[in-house]
Amino acid sequence: MCGIVGYAGKGNALPVLLDGLQRLEYRGYDSAGVAFQNGHGMEIYKTRGKIRDLRQMIPDPLPHACIGLGHTRWATHGIPCTRNAHPHDAGGIAVVHNGIIENYRELRAALSAAGRVFKSDTDTEVIPHLISYNMEKGMALKESILNAVLQLRGSFAMGIMSEQHPGCIFAARKGSPLVIGLGETDRFFASDIPAILPYARRVIFLDDGELCMLTPGGLEIEYIGNTAPGPAAPISERIADITWTAAMAEKKGYDHFMLKEIHEQPDTVAATFAEWLREPLRLLEECRLTTRAAVRMKRIQIVACGTSYHAALVGKYLIEVLSRIPVEVEIASEYRYKTLFVDRDLFHISITQSGETADTLAAQRAAKEFGAHTMTICNAVGSTASREASSVLYTRAGLEIGVASTKAFTAQMTVLCLLALALGVTRKTISRAEYDTISDALEQIPGFIGRILKSDDALRELAGSLSRAKHFMYLGRGISSPIALEGALKLKEISYIPAQGYPAGEMKHGPIALIEEGLPVIAVAPGDGLIGKVLSNIEEVKARGGRVIAVTDRPDLFSGQADDVVQVPATESFFTPFLTVVPLHLLAYHIAVMRGCDVDQPRNLAKSVTVE
Ligand code: AGP
Repeated sequence: MCGIVGYAGKGNALPVLLDGLQRLEYRGYDSAGVAFQNGHGMEIYKTRGKIRDLRQMIPDPLPHACIGLGHTRWATHGIPCTRNAHPHDAGGIAVVHNGIIENYRELRAALSAAGRVFKSDTDTEVIPHLISYNMEKGMALKESILNAVLQLRGSFAMGIMSEQHPGCIFAARKGSPLVIGLGETDRFFASDIPAILPYARRVIFLDDGELCMLTPGGLEIEYIGNTAPGPAAPISERIADITWTAAMAEKKGYDHFMLKEIHEQPDTVAATFAEWLREPLRLLEECRLTTRAAVRMKRIQIVACGTSYHAALVGKYLIEVLSRIPVEVEIASEYRYKTLFVDRDLFHISITQSGETADTLAAQRAAKEFGAHTMTICNAVGSTASREASSVLYTRAGLEIGVASTKAFTAQMTVLCLLALALGVTRKTISRAEYDTISDALEQIPGFIGRILKSDDALRELAGSLSRAKHFMYLGRGISSPIALEGALKLKEISYIPAQGYPAGEMKHGPIALIEEGLPVIAVAPGDGLIGKVLSNIEEVKARGGRVIAVTDRPDLFSGQADDVVQVPATESFFTPFLTVVPLHLLAYHIAVMRGCDVDQPRNLAKSVTVE
């Protein structure tokens, strides 16, 4: 959950490193640092705080350097402070690292016993010590790096630079994402594509167990030890062209990435279904599913975390209703440590925006080891999940930078809807006519979302009357129950207000004790078959003084029942999540802004949870 970046080229490293770190700040932002070769040695600047604090430390104009490393941190070992900020150095070796070295304690003890002096509390600092220790014993630089990396257990994406070797930098990867950027002559490495977008469109996604040496105009990749899964593909065959533009990584005039991404949803939902709508067989081919396998499918497991888990819960409703296949949904961090009932007949789906969530990756690997067909629904091309799964259905949400996931969520639901339709029409649990009718309704969703976005002023006004509340409750039934969970998660993660989401029928089993005068209760209440039950729950809230905000396509049913009504367009019952979630995202956004919270980089969070 940190961001690393490196540069080797004929230009100046520092502007590239600082700009790249700025674009990676969503991955962690409690401290930052750079190391660079200034022509007569190595310089390191690092500090607690954000990239802007780091920039203030470095002389102006920026020193010229052709080689350098950078890091922005989300603390795992050692409190956020300058001493624990990266790069870490020892004996002329500087290292930046994203991941966790699980055996760092025994390595540190052995190195200390050999007389090495440590300056930080981090796990990372063992790496430059191991490398410089090897070099002091006469090993060459690359040999020292390979030997050191083979001693590490855990996960890493790391950048390495040696003061005595000013013409090159190294990058190594195991379990944490690392992408190599190829400019005309400049070379880059980074944790994620946004950091190199303005400089390189051609990239290589390093595989686990690979070490790469970057020099201006040069690139070498080799496997560390005996990690090679087979003959290495020629570098030219591994180059991918990135279509994202640098502009996509900018805010396009919105105050925050999150607001921009909420407003992009009409386009991203449309882009996601454009590839497969009305082409069910091609979608199943993309899943690497034969028609026979789809017809014979007995059960599906979906595993995810956070917002992606909520999308999985919606997917369960869609797949079970449309294809009659039982679906089990599991939180990845629980799944990976439980007794698994997985076999070759299981269709295992992981849902992950980043494709790098450690728990989701571990769950996917576990299912694959048991022989299940593993498919991932993912938003990041070339991410670990997409490269390890048996098949991939990509969401086409584009770069999602706001830590709070919004457009990726609706894109995930879109893919799940398409999958449910494809399975249903193939298994004949829905007719082709029903498939077409439902597809017609799906095609209306982007326009309906656009209509909701036009009511943003009213939502901002409603948020103003709620922004001082100390506590929220979200309720929903059936397919709206996951949306209640999602609305609560969005609010709590960016405004820091305690908020619970519950199935509305669950309220009487305890949560109703929380209802008190003025407590905001947001009822996700489309006019579906469960609306009568939800209305009863709302009466129970009103009877105890709660303030009811209804999100519904049936405002006529709530006159006198709800204190506030947020209207959404009417649609097929299983598409209501696409519409009811949008006001909840906007409400959470406006409340967080009114409370002065850092919406795009909420405290304690990071965009991609690449550690357990
Ligand atoms: C979403 O708003 C949260 N930031 C978080 O719950 C996120 O959904 C979760 O960490 C899963 O991330 P992934 O989709 O990249 O795997």
